[in-house]
Amino acid sequence: TPTLRLDYRPPAWAVPSIRLDFDLDAAVTRVRATLEVEKNSAEAAPRGPLALDGAPGMKPVSVTVDGRLLDAGEWRIEDDQLLIELTGPRHIVETEVVISPEKNTQLMGLYASGGLLCTQCEAEGFRRITFFPDRPDVLSRYTVKMTADRALYPVLLANGDLIGEGETGEGRHWAEWRDPFLKPCYLFAMVAGDLKANRDSFTTMSGREVQLGIWVREADLPRTEHAMTALKSSMAWDEKVYGREYDLGIFNIVAVADFNFGAMENKGLNIFNSRYILADPETATDADYDAIAGVVAHEYFHNWSGNRVTCRDWFQLSLKEGFTVFRDQEFSADQGSRAVKRIEDVRVLRAAQFPEDGGPLAHPIRPDSYLEISNFYTATIYNKGAEVIRMLHTMLGVEGFRRGTDLYFERHDGTAATCEDFVRAMEDANGADLTDFRRWYSQAGTPRLRAALSHEPGTAKARLTLEQVVPPTPGQDDKQPMPLPLRLALFGAKSGKAIVPERVHVLHDAEGEILFEGVDEQPVLSINRGFSAPVIVETNRTAADLAFLSGHDDDPFARFEAMQQLMVDTLVAAIEGREADEEAVIAAVRETLTDPSLDAAFVGEAVLLPNEAFLGDQLAVVDPTAIRRAREHLRQRLGRELEAEWRAAYAASAGNRFEYTPSAKGLRRLRTVALGYLDASGAADAAKQALAQYEGADNMTDRQGALTTLANGTSAERETALAAFYDRYRNDALVLDKWFTTQAISMREDTAEAVERLARHPDFTMTNPNRMRSLVGAFAANQFAFHSADGRGYRFVADMILKADKLNPQSAARLVPPLGRWRRFEPARAALMKAELERIVATPGLSKDVFEQASKSLA
Ligand code: ARG
Ligand code: ZN
Repeated sequence: TPTLRLDYRPPAWAVPSIRLDFDLDAAVTRVRATLEVEKNSAEAAPRGPLALDGAPGMKPVSVTVDGRLLDAGEWRIEDDQLLIELTGPRHIVETEVVISPEKNTQLMGLYASGGLLCTQCEAEGFRRITFFPDRPDVLSRYTVKMTADRALYPVLLANGDLIGEGETGEGRHWAEWRDPFLKPCYLFAMVAGDLKANRDSFTTMSGREVQLGIWVREADLPRTEHAMTALKSSMAWDEKVYGREYDLGIFNIVAVADFNFGAMENKGLNIFNSRYILADPETATDADYDAIAGVVAHEYFHNWSGNRVTCRDWFQLSLKEGFTVFRDQEFSADQGSRAVKRIEDVRVLRAAQFPEDGGPLAHPIRPDSYLEISNFYTATIYNKGAEVIRMLHTMLGVEGFRRGTDLYFERHDGTAATCEDFVRAMEDANGADLTDFRRWYSQAGTPRLRAALSHEPGTAKARLTLEQVVPPTPGQDDKQPMPLPLRLALFGAKSGKAIVPERVHVLHDAEGEILFEGVDEQPVLSINRGFSAPVIVETNRTAADLAFLSGHDDDPFARFEAMQQLMVDTLVAAIEGREADEEAVIAAVRETLTDPSLDAAFVGEAVLLPNEAFLGDQLAVVDPTAIRRAREHLRQRLGRELEAEWRAAYAASAGNRFEYTPSAKGLRRLRTVALGYLDASGAADAAKQALAQYEGADNMTDRQGALTTLANGTSAERETALAAFYDRYRNDALVLDKWFTTQAISMREDTAEAVERLARHPDFTMTNPNRMRSLVGAFAANQFAFHSADGRGYRFVADMILKADKLNPQSAARLVPPLGRWRRFEPARAALMKAELERIVATPGLSKDVFEQASKSLA
């Protein structure tokens, strides 16, 4: 039975404080929990026994109330909850359980990773550690004592401040931590292991010194400097941009190798997937460096947007995630190239969120129901959620938005809040009316905006008509129009001048019209500049208009968009057998490539053809073979006809030593893009060139770029480079992931077979989420290979889902959505995909995670 948003009721009991006592051991860990419980006297709170959540099969060894040991008849387990009848308004309840971290393959709760013991509690992992009201609106003060073998676990970390440590004899030692801040149990964390710290400090704006530590295995210490720099920059940025200061004397980060997600914002003790901490030029690409800075910032920013103000219930998840993603995006934009960052973020939104919004798993950023909350850590909650916050920022302006966040933090500090609270703070701080804006929280689906500009020569007037449609999504047939903040401008086709300077127009209704005066030459429309609204835009712009904008728009994002649209229009025409204006694309790419005013990072993004999956999203019925054929044809033509330009762009970056700066990154990006086109051109020396780049590289970006190009082909150099890469990095799990991914995303015809073989490789394992993602996740995102016409890709992924589900349901469930897109594909493939989903749903003993995703995909 699903959990419903409107069923929310306040907790029956509060737990103002909890004391945890851990006797740690990988096989058998004893957990004693002492809870101070207090009846919630509020009218809306339910009556009844104290109900503490536990994991399936979990039983208390003992239960004590106010010091009295209860008989087995005085408590009971129902629906995985421990129920205790209590008579008074306030009691001390103590439970003891025994758990086994080394048997925990779900990686939720307390588990073992390498030689470490660590925790992941969001969303509902704490109940796998001890009996507790596992819901985010129960806020408590935590005191945690950890006892463990000193040799195996010399370092013992938990939230807050260290308040004591010592020996207990027999080689065991203990540490006690206290977190002075109220927090929900999903922010509890603890780590025990043989770790070393990169230590540093940060002085806050009010002059307090914070001890920073990034804890890793000793051998990884040299790879923590970039994360430390990012952490200090994040702390300074949040003070400057939001006025938010860190609040404890200690901030620790621990990197672990087995982790379901990117990272976790536990109070004062962030736990990270090691791929978002460890970096050096030899093993990490520029994209890795950027992602590390982004995730370090994201988790740090949660200290205010998530921890000091948390979520009332999990339907409010986007309150913290959407806002925090927006904050980390802006941080990264301020650190590097704002335009390139926006291009990347929009690319992610379109690749991950638009398909979700248009498919069977579509949900609003504040969902109304769920079976398994883990399935709702989605691109919709995170990335569309961030776009919704960005629209508020656009409409209210920098200062208005800041007034809103100041009020939000002031009003809700120390509490569990709702999305509604956030919107209301924005309204109250600005005297604004955001009534219809709330539809962004309640309605799913990507709005489609039609914009048509007309101009009668000689009248000096232009008319822009706007029309929006919000498509139906599961459970939501009828939609209201959404308010769309549209940044727009008009350019003179002849003069190239901005004849109507940029303005923000908010379209509130289904239809709208704007009249422009003083338009004395043919105007060209630039709309949704900076991607000001997360919508699909259709315009009446011609190929010539788009080519013009791609060379002249003064908003770099709009320039990029115009080029992409020109490419999409051309490729869709070719796929549909209509006449395609390839010459316009070639000319526009040449112009961008040779424009000396553009920086290399931008050029590297702008000249790339939209990927196959994105092209599929533009079509009513997806035929991966037709898409591959049309895209390859244009890619090869671009390669051949601009061969001299690609060679020049490639040569321009020669001889640079590695530096992690925006300009050096840009050169590396363009270099690999140019290499790819050179390879597409069929030039005889391309593979040799790629192998030379591979062998001569002083950094992973160039090395991986060369390897990716080679992996698409059939040359002898390909095998040389893949073998060399494996030999060099076989003992470095994070780099070996790249070896798997490079082969899984290959454009070769035999990729599906190759991936099946790689799944039998001795280095492949289903117990490590990064490795699973690097092979199976990457393959499922490779449209041509996954959608192999014989259905072997579908069968392989379905087999993986069923096997993984036994070990780690979360990791299994996230492989379901690619199969769930079956309705979009041509009938033969659709039938094969559907059959695999039916096979999954018919399998006995499925997790809630996989069942929810697969059954919704069939509904
Ligand atoms: N709050 C974490 C973050 O976004 C992610 C936690 C994911 N947990 C989960 N059960 N899906 O930084
Ligand atoms: Zn987050």
